[in-house]
Amino acid sequence: YRNLRVALLGGGSVGAQVARLLLEQGPELANRIGATLELVGIAVRDVNAERSVDLPRELFTTNAEELILSADIVIELMGGIEPARSHILLAISSGADVVTANKALLALHGSELFEAANQVGAQINYEAAVAGAIPIVRPLRESLAGDQIKRILGIVNGTTNFILDRMDTEGSSLEDALAEATALGYAEADPTADIGGYDAAQKAAILASLAFHTTVPLASVYREGITSVTSAQIESARKAGYVVKLLAICERVTDENGVDGVSARVYPAMVPRSHPLAAVHGANNAVFVEAESAGSLMFYGAGAGGVETASAVLGDVVSIARRHVAGGPGVAASSYAALPVFDIGRVTTRY
Ligand code: NDP
Ligand code: HSE
Repeated sequence: YRNLRVALLGGGSVGAQVARLLLEQGPELANRIGATLELVGIAVRDVNAERSVDLPRELFTTNAEELILSADIVIELMGGIEPARSHILLAISSGADVVTANKALLALHGSELFEAANQVGAQINYEAAVAGAIPIVRPLRESLAGDQIKRILGIVNGTTNFILDRMDTEGSSLEDALAEATALGYAEADPTADIGGYDAAQKAAILASLAFHTTVPLASVYREGITSVTSAQIESARKAGYVVKLLAICERVTDENGVDGVSARVYPAMVPRSHPLAAVHGANNAVFVEAESAGSLMFYGAGAGGVETASAVLGDVVSIARRHVAGGPGVAASSYAALPVFDIGRVTTRY
C-alpha cells in the first residue's frame, strides 16, 4: 500500500476522536482505500493537557508548521480564525489537501482559501463544518449539483437545540442547559457563538453559498440568537401547541425590481408541535432541502459531538485518500458565480 501522512491540528473534542479512530481503524481503512493513513502528529497548545481519549504522548507537538510541512493531508480541528487560516494556507502551498470542520473560518475566509486551493488543484473538504455528522455539504456540492434548489430550512446548531429542548422538556434554565452542552463537548470554545446565533449564521452562509452557487457573505446573514428566549415564552408556546426552535432559512427571493437573489436568516421561531422539526431533540440537527426536480429532502442526525463529528471528518479524509490512490482530480474547492444577496431580515416563513 501507498502511505499517506496525516497531520492533525487540534486534539480537543473532535480532534481526539479523529485521532482515536485513525489509530483504531487503520488496517480497516487501508483495505477500504488502498493506502495507509499514517497519523504523523497532533498539534495542540499544551502537550501535557489531560485528554478525553488516551493517545500516545509522542504524537503531540506545539510545532504545527513543522507537522504541516511533513503531511499529505492536513486535518484542521483547532477552530477559530488564526492560526487556523494561516495553517490551512501553508498546507495548500506545501502541496497537501485539507479537511476542516471550521465553519467560522470558512464563512469569513472561504473564498480566499478555496481560491488558493483551486490555484494548485488542492482539495478542501468540510463536511463536518455544517450539521456535525449529517452528510449535507457533499449532497449539495455533488448529488444535487444538477438541480435547482429553492429553499433550505433547518436546525443547524446542536447546542442551542439542546438548550431549547431542555428548557421545554425539563424546565431547565438556559445557563444550566448550556453548562451541560459544554460538558458534553457540543458547544464552541466560546459558547457565545452558539447562543448568539453566530455559529448557525456561519453555517447558513456556507449552505446558501453551496445551494445557490454564489458567495453569501456572513455579514449579509440576518442573525438573532436565543439569549432573549425566556422560560415563560417557551411555556406559553407549549400551551399554544408550538415549540421554539432556532431556525436557519436560506432561500431564493426576488426583489421589488424582479431581480432574483438569495436571502439567509437565523432566528428563534415558533414551530407547530406537529411539524417534523418539533421532533428534533437534544443536540440533533435537521435540514430540509426543497429542490425543483428532487422535491423535498430531509437530512437528520447528530449536529454536534466529538465522535459523531469525527465520522464526517474521516469521510472527508477517505475521499481525499481515494483521490490520491486514483490519481485523478478532486471536486473543485468551489466555483461560485455572483448572484445578488439580499438582507431581508426576519421574515416569517411557512412550516
Ligand atoms: P476544542 O476546543 O475541544 O479543541 C480545540 C483543539 O485545538 C485543542 O486540542 C487545542 O489545544 C487546539 N488548539 C486551539 N488553538 C490552538 C492553537 N493556537 N495552537 C495549537 N493548538 C490549538 O474544539 P472542538 O474539537 O470542539 O472543535 C474543533 C473544530 O470543530 C472547531 O472549528 C469547531 O467549530 C468544529 N466543530 C465542532 C463540533 C463539536 O461538536 N465539538 C462539531 C462540528 C464542528 P489544547 O488541547 O492544547 O488546548
Ligand atoms: N457548537 C456547534 C453546535 C458544534 O452546537 O452545533 C457543531 O457545529
